[in-house]
Amino acid sequence: GKPILPYDEIGAERLSQLVDAFYARVAMHPKLKPIFPDDLTETARKQKQFMTQYLGGPNIYSEEHGHPRLKARHNPFPITPERAQAWLECMSEAMDEIGLTGKFRETFYNRLVLTAHHMVNEPDSEE
Ligand code: HEM
Repeated sequence: GKPILPYDEIGAERLSQLVDAFYARVAMHPKLKPIFPDDLTETARKQKQFMTQYLGGPNIYSEEHGHPRLKARHNPFPITPERAQAWLECMSEAMDEIGLTGKFRETFYNRLVLTAHHMVNEPDSEE
């Protein structure tokens, strides 16, 4: 059959719901909250743009912000293995909330696991 972009499979509406459900959790997470801005409106807007192109949709993130350089953009923030795990837990719960299931969820989530681990730039604190 006709190849379908992951972006078309989830759709702009559900992707937007996913990102909002995700940042609602980030905002309450004890390990994540301290490194994020208090107002996540702009962060969520950029993440929607990024995930659109990450899933094969139009390159709306790069059009506004240039090449993602995700690892470099995360350098100012201490991303420990614990925080990567917390990020992924928030994402998994957000996927549950919007009812994302099946092969699509599995593939998308596994890709996010790799990207999240790639963002780690600091060891867990010893405390
Ligand atoms: C921005 C944390 C993983 C995509 C940010 C910001 C923080 C952060 C603190 C800055 C927010 C702001 O200033 O508005 C983390 C942590 C991660 C993680 C703790 C755990 C591994 C990821 C992953 C992706 C991602 C896996 C993509 C799949 C982005 C994008 C931005 C961003 C697109 C906005 C960059 C910009 O300013 O243009 N992240 N992040 N992050 N993150 Fe992450």
